[in-house]
Amino acid sequence: MRSVNYSADEPKLCLSLTEATLRENLAIVERERRRVDLVELRADFLDEAELAEVSAFPRLSGLPTLLTFRRESDGGARAIGEGERRGLLDRALDGGFSVVDLEEDLEAPELERKAAEQGTMVVRSMHDFGGVPGDLSRRLAALARRPGEIPKVAVMPHSVSDLLRLLEVGGQVPRAIVVGMGEWGFPTRVLPGRFHSVQSYCSAGEVKAAPGHVDPKTLRETYRLGETSATAKLFCVIGNPVLHSRSPWIHNPGYRALGLDAVYVPVQVDRLADFFMLAERLGIEGASVTVPHKEEAASLLAETDASVTQAGACNTLVRESGGWRGYNTDIEGFLAPLRARLRGALAGARALVVGAGGAARSVVAGLVAEGARVTVVNRTGPRARVLAEQFDCGWAPAEEAAALPAFDIVVQATSVGMSPNEDADPLPSLSFRGTELVYELIYAPRRTLFLARAERAGCGVIGGREMLLHQAYAQFRLFTGRDYPAEVREDF
Ligand code: ATR
Repeated sequence: MRSVNYSADEPKLCLSLTEATLRENLAIVERERRRVDLVELRADFLDEAELAEVSAFPRLSGLPTLLTFRRESDGGARAIGEGERRGLLDRALDGGFSVVDLEEDLEAPELERKAAEQGTMVVRSMHDFGGVPGDLSRRLAALARRPGEIPKVAVMPHSVSDLLRLLEVGGQVPRAIVVGMGEWGFPTRVLPGRFHSVQSYCSAGEVKAAPGHVDPKTLRETYRLGETSATAKLFCVIGNPVLHSRSPWIHNPGYRALGLDAVYVPVQVDRLADFFMLAERLGIEGASVTVPHKEEAASLLAETDASVTQAGACNTLVRESGGWRGYNTDIEGFLAPLRARLRGALAGARALVVGAGGAARSVVAGLVAEGARVTVVNRTGPRARVLAEQFDCGWAPAEEAAALPAFDIVVQATSVGMSPNEDADPLPSLSFRGTELVYELIYAPRRTLFLARAERAGCGVIGGREMLLHQAYAQFRLFTGRDYPAEVREDF
């Protein structure tokens, strides 16, 4: 039998198998074999006819194999009598599983005896799909019944403060599996070692075994699990929601290409004050800040760069020797592609900015700083006026867009046309002459209706992906002191 040597210094990656047949599960094992340390056969997902063959699985998988037959009440996929379940577990153990998962309250001395005889390690698990129980610490301490058992807690955090509690309990026993499910628990999946967890679970099939599971390729290649050390520099993107963010796919490949011992993960954040506590505990050294925290971060921080004041928002936090300092790389990210295109012709250029929200403010600040002559147009006229007056430029309500004079640059800085509302145009009355350079800030979809219309009119266009990348490159420099590697830039 293949044994598993659990330690929080080198957490294991366990692939949960949730297909209906052993054959389908084996096909997934074949595909993912080199990425995972062990596999978990979730017998509760198997078709009835497959259950008699479960004991053959460890030999067929060729990897250390964990046996789990989850009860329905703990999130299992099959309604089955408890006696029958135990009988199945008992027969399956003959197959030489490396590990078996037994629940917190299961009184089954015959299974424990058999596991001990076979040399099968026991993971003693408790689940809470509703939250993080108040007595988690006590329950974790009481979980392991015999020497050698590994306690496992899988709970559903709903806030950063819940996540902080998970961080605390993990360290109280020498070895434990600590899983935070769902969006709030995501950091436990990508950074198991920092949560003192000896194992992270992932899924590769269609059905995810538990909320928040990631596939092995993403964990290994994007989140660099096993590739970075326990003391790797830790960076993150914070927002709410945040798991859709593409930033990990920009920053991590950059660290990788430069051989940096660093990783960048998404952390869903409700209260900024709690994030700073988490950052302290986890050793986070820098963060990208996204919706809805940019404005609060700008007002909360004692130390901010001039770019934050200009933009009225903070999209980057860096831990420096004196504490946290805020920056804004949106302005630089916006200007970089424009400078490359216009080569010095930005000063004096006539620019129309569509929108008057947070994104538009960074755009106006950047354009004004470069000497462009800016007009702001917005659905809600008075908002356009407020923004324009701050930067001493012109404005117009959307109804007057058709009567506006010619522009050299048009920037689309509203959220209109963003996926999934792709068939919306923020300013249909604006017609393009074909001579303008049209810059769209939205990056999904790659071609908004607005941008496609500009292209058809013969305009030069810049898509939102360029700003997204350049603001990230600027963050990369602030985080690492290094330029983003050019070879990755081409690939992304
Ligand atoms: P962000 O921080 O992304 O800029 P925001 O501050 O909420 O977000 O600003 C959204 C911008 O999109 C505003 O300019 C808004 O116009 P209003 O000020 O009139 O609300 C613009 N916007 C949003 N929905 C719009 C719509 N359906 N048509 C036109 N403009 C719209």
